[in-house]
Amino acid sequence: MRRPLIAGNWKMNTTADEAINLVNDMLTELIGFTGVDCVLCPPFISLQSLSKLLKGTSIGLGAQNMYYKEKGAFTGEVSALMLKDLCRFVILGHSERRQYFCETDAAVNQKIKAALEAGLVPIFCVGESFEQNETGRTDEILSMQIKSGLSGIGATDQIIIAYEPIWAIGTGKAATGAQAGLAIGFIRETLCSIWEKTRANSIRILYGGSVTGTNITEFVKQPQIDGALVGGASIKAAEFISIVRQTALVKS
Ligand code: PGA
Repeated sequence: MRRPLIAGNWKMNTTADEAINLVNDMLTELIGFTGVDCVLCPPFISLQSLSKLLKGTSIGLGAQNMYYKEKGAFTGEVSALMLKDLCRFVILGHSERRQYFCETDAAVNQKIKAALEAGLVPIFCVGESFEQNETGRTDEILSMQIKSGLSGIGATDQIIIAYEPIWAIGTGKAATGAQAGLAIGFIRETLCSIWEKTRANSIRILYGGSVTGTNITEFVKQPQIDGALVGGASIKAAEFISIVRQTALVKS
């Protein structure tokens, strides 16, 4: 059995004070949902304060990116070594990183390796563009991203995968449950082709892209979908709580 997981990707939102307030607004409710793992991914500047706030709770903390080198002259970057004392998870390969910061599959692969070496759990994002979807290339793109992203990575490593079709991110146009279920089924088949089957079947795969309290059940009802990576709705306390609550209900 794969434990359901809801992760919140806050993106470049919340000042230091706002982040603390947001967690305070959600914490009591969130720790009440024992059947669902919850992970919050605030901006770097809030990792330290939130790691203190969440210490001893069941709520996980994650970063939204990192560089693959351990340290050195890389102005503006943050390494796995710096993150590992503050959080357990790190989002890698998000389409916004690929699009705005020119991250390639090869760079994502290096980051995943560095994260795993440091003992962090990568939330590895993959997903096709609108054009690729329209021209029937979704499987080809997913297969390529998964195979290069996980190249050289052993089957024993802990990793979470998020399927996020680019056309669904921040657009309010989520995929349907059936569409997401199909793509995620394909990702799992791809994992089975590179790793031993039991291992591949134990990996959690999330859906991401315009997830809200209104559509979450459509996704988590799909047996292939183990939860969600939530962007916009994760910085609204009541909405995020509602997403976690409904996931707990469906998956219990
Ligand atoms: P969204 O973002 O929920 O705002 O569409 C999801 C994501 O980018 O992880």
